[in-house]
Amino acid sequence: MTFFTMFYRRKVPASTNENSHENLSNATILSREPTLVILLWTFPFGEQFPLNKCPQQFDVSDCFYTADRTQYTSAHAVVLHHRDVCTTKTQLPQAPRPSNQRWVWFNLESPSHCPNLAIMNDLINLTMSYRVDSDIFTPYGWIEKHNGPTNFTIPKKTKLVAWVVSNWNPNTRRVKYYEDLKNYLQVDIYGRQHLHLPRDEQLETLSTYKFYFAFENSIHVDYITEKFWYNALYSRCVPVVMGPPRENYERFIPRDAFIHVDDFSSPQELASYLLNLDKDEEKYKQYFNWRSEYYVPPKDNPWTVSYCRVCKALKEAPPYRTIASIEKWFK
Ligand SMILES: *[C@@H]1O[C@H](CO)[C@@H](O)[C@H](O)[C@H]1NC(C)=O
Ligand SMILES: *[C@@H]1O[C@H](CO)[C@@H](O)[C@H](O)[C@H]1NC(C)=O
Repeated sequence: MTFFTMFYRRKVPASTNENSHENLSNATILSREPTLVILLWTFPFGEQFPLNKCPQQFDVSDCFYTADRTQYTSAHAVVLHHRDVCTTKTQLPQAPRPSNQRWVWFNLESPSHCPNLAIMNDLINLTMSYRVDSDIFTPYGWIEKHNGPTNFTIPKKTKLVAWVVSNWNPNTRRVKYYEDLKNYLQVDIYGRQHLHLPRDEQLETLSTYKFYFAFENSIHVDYITEKFWYNALYSRCVPVVMGPPRENYERFIPRDAFIHVDDFSSPQELASYLLNLDKDEEKYKQYFNWRSEYYVPPKDNPWTVSYCRVCKALKEAPPYRTIASIEKWFK
């Protein structure tokens, strides 16, 4: 017997018999159908959010989410958020694993900020991360198609380049790049050690900039974060990206939607390209052409959205899957 048939029965089609009593008893049976219990072993980084409130596009009708560890023995899946359980093995569930319970490894950090992966050896059944080849793909953002052609209006632009950095580390590639670039181009930097930007003013403030520096803190396959999707695209700026190669971005977004630092041989060359675009209204506008067809949906709570994907994935998961080394795959 597979996991699937043990714990989950597809809803029986409504009876063709029009007898109302029959329909009623059918409904009663449906409401007693076994539900998949999904246990969040921790709230990620301790950040609580409402469970069982998934946006409609996620089919979660057969699942029940809980963060109550006393549900461990009845849980069909346990979601382990890496950074909350990776310090010592004692942070993982200690009781024997009920047969057929799946452990889901969840992580949105890049491998550079993801210590102690070996602790997960021979424990995990499904992966959940921003990597496209995860069992459960949980990207930081995405685009959707408009129902028909739409006219997009570029917000009024009064400033040139913005960059929000919370972790200013002089040894990183992005800061070194900036140290060179600043000789040729004025950049407004927001963040802990720089200009103050209240959260509720962020969207409005950033939208007045022509360009936004979406520089990732480390460079890894598919690691394209909210800096790109929300600080830049959702704020309707043209992103200037530093991250995985251009082709990697183009898996997720049209090629004319962004500027990649690797398109230029030096920071000086990038600076002169941006300064030229600033003077060339027509050419600048072309970076918005894709928006007549696509849009970036508003940001939901990223935790909610990620966990909401587990239900469907669990129903579709292969009967048996185990991952010997997360480290080998992820690093
Ligand atoms: C977009 O703008 C064009 C030109 O101004 C206009 O003809 C067209 O009807 C508009 N389309 C929509 C979907 O608003
Ligand atoms: C999940 O992984 C564990 C550890 O490798 C394994 O013992 C178990 O059979 C797997 N379960 C499923 C349903 O794949």
